[in-house]
Amino acid sequence: MSPSDAVGTARPVVLTAAGVSVVVDASAAIPRVLYWGRAAALSDSDLDTLSAMTGRQWTVDGVQGPVYPSLLPEQSHGWMGTPGIEGHRNGSRFSTRFERPRVDAGDTREGGRYLESNSVDPSAELALLVRLDLLPSGVLRLAAELTNTSADSSYELEALRIALPVPAEAQEILDFAGRHLRERSPQRHAFTVGTHLREGRRGRTGSDATPLLAVGTPGFGFGRGEVWAVHTAWSGNHRTYAELGLPGLRVVGGGEVLLPGEVRLAPGERYRSPELYAAYGEGLNEVAGAFHAHLRSRATHPRSPRPVVLNTWEAVYFQHDLAALTELAQVGARVGVERFVLDDGWFRSRRNDKAGLGDWQVDESVWPDGLQPLVDVVRSLGMDFGLWFEPEMVNEDSDLARAHPDWILGPGERLPLPGRNQQVLNLAVPEAYDYILDSISTLVARYGIDYIKWDHNRDLVEAGDRRSGEPRVHEQTLATYRLMDELRRRHPRLEIESCSSGGGRVDLGVLQRTDRVWASDCIDALERQQIQRWTGLLLPPELIGSHVGAPVAHTTHRTHSLAFRAATAVFGHFGIEWDLRGASEQELAELARWVQLYKEERQLLHSGRLMHSDSPDPSYWSYGVVSEQRDRALIAFVAMATGVSAQPGRIRIPGLDPATQYRLEPVDLSLEALFANSGALPPWISEPLTVSGEALATLGLQAPMLYPEQAFLVRITRSDATAPR
Ligand code: DGJ
Repeated sequence: MSPSDAVGTARPVVLTAAGVSVVVDASAAIPRVLYWGRAAALSDSDLDTLSAMTGRQWTVDGVQGPVYPSLLPEQSHGWMGTPGIEGHRNGSRFSTRFERPRVDAGDTREGGRYLESNSVDPSAELALLVRLDLLPSGVLRLAAELTNTSADSSYELEALRIALPVPAEAQEILDFAGRHLRERSPQRHAFTVGTHLREGRRGRTGSDATPLLAVGTPGFGFGRGEVWAVHTAWSGNHRTYAELGLPGLRVVGGGEVLLPGEVRLAPGERYRSPELYAAYGEGLNEVAGAFHAHLRSRATHPRSPRPVVLNTWEAVYFQHDLAALTELAQVGARVGVERFVLDDGWFRSRRNDKAGLGDWQVDESVWPDGLQPLVDVVRSLGMDFGLWFEPEMVNEDSDLARAHPDWILGPGERLPLPGRNQQVLNLAVPEAYDYILDSISTLVARYGIDYIKWDHNRDLVEAGDRRSGEPRVHEQTLATYRLMDELRRRHPRLEIESCSSGGGRVDLGVLQRTDRVWASDCIDALERQQIQRWTGLLLPPELIGSHVGAPVAHTTHRTHSLAFRAATAVFGHFGIEWDLRGASEQELAELARWVQLYKEERQLLHSGRLMHSDSPDPSYWSYGVVSEQRDRALIAFVAMATGVSAQPGRIRIPGLDPATQYRLEPVDLSLEALFANSGALPPWISEPLTVSGEALATLGLQAPMLYPEQAFLVRITRSDATAPR
């Protein structure tokens, strides 16, 4: 074994935050994470032992060398699994072996700690920077940067991926599949030998992308088991994976998927990987809590109360008409709407989804006086004004495409298959980028637009520069980020919603420059319960747009009560997407009460801890948000279907203070969810109950029998007996 093989020539570094510790061997050529999990008080001798154990592990029938992986595992150090770096110089120097690490440590801008290691491979003529941040939330943030140090030859980079080892206890994988209208469907399976690879090659995050890839101890749930989860923060082609290989070592990792020839580093050029985020927790509630705490700690996190939105899409679709939209806004104002968002259909030739994208000028045939009359109405009603754009897209039937066919992404002469009758604009072309930036910026300034719904409705297929034939997904992703950043720089109060055929762009890359996501085009409350449950593993409720739709859901044709639709939307950033002009007075009065409830509870919902119970019955869910001070909570009981047993049984309610007594108060707006035979209901529904946080978490609460596809809400408040003096 050569000296540079030896792990632990210097003692490993321990970073600890929010109950999580990471032990890093920073003396290795590329840092190695020797431990990541529950906070541990490790002595110097413990660290030496850990270092020795991981430093001398060989496989039985593998190479003769210690195989413990670095954050970018290399074959030259014995790793035979997925490598951290792939690339070559004109077909040679395909393998790396970094050395001579220089390590810096310090404070991150969020108040966490970082380690940064710079090493070189003189023979491959590459320099590598690896950065690991342990943030105050307990979330790990990792990134790598590769520089071509050659004076005269370029380096073809094929992959730069980060991998984090997880212990052998991680025996199960939970990740998410999905599609348009059914995003984030869980799939769970054993963590077996091989690579469980979730790859997105659609040029966008994708409705099928997994928000988290979690591995954990068998049967892990919201409140039980150890869980290690990763998220690749990238809105273009990407991969997230879990791998168990020959040496019996398990890793979870991620990075960008690069198309052939997409990143060719000229001498002196560098490539930076997307950030890989990772969180450890005992149960998924803790993992989600760490991500939520991290997101809420960002300087850009929306701080104002999240306004009640009225979005016009499912209300009028492309039928734009000032009188109709004025009436809609007026009815919206009566029920308490605070932000009016004009969706698709306002710009030239956009009478349906076949034409107009790219021509970002107001359609004078529909809006003879521009949007100002509508903006005036909206403002006079005390609402913000939001407008829909799909900046990265172009219809072939548009003035833009006719004038600049070479601005369309494609493999060359030939155009890619259309998607929703549209193509993708090549934002890496400076003139195309400037045109889009100026068009949007002009409208934002002219109308004082507060909010953009930023849509992206097709995959990037064969996405290249038509003039050179070179692939462009990587550049397109960066250009989109630049465009969002520049618009926000020019208009600092502007908020942006990330939408992509519904919930197809939900990732922490886009969320660095946006203020909420549209979780799905499916606003059927039953489907939304599921979509929000799993989107909520990554994002706190205030970042998840959630609307009350029409009584009959447009995308499923299911009928739901207003109470179920509204109770579902309350647990996100609440909005309405329903033609209220056709709603009855009774419906409007009930909706206004739900809006009022959301306004009363949003401070709690958007700052507290989201806690799901591990309900014994899969058809019956319970979850809620507990305030930071643990003095209040809003809890939902949801019957997703009828249960096999008549009674749901006792459900444990986690997250409250064990030593505090709480009062339970049913939310009367949700009483219709209760099974009519009051004899079948637990006494606490009708009689005041005071109970301790300890009892709620350990004994549980007798859950009420509900009608299927209904939600029952309960307020929990600290009883006076334990109120602070
Ligand atoms: C897809 C979005 O997800 C919808 O909400 C709506 O904005 C349409 N696009 C408009 O074309």
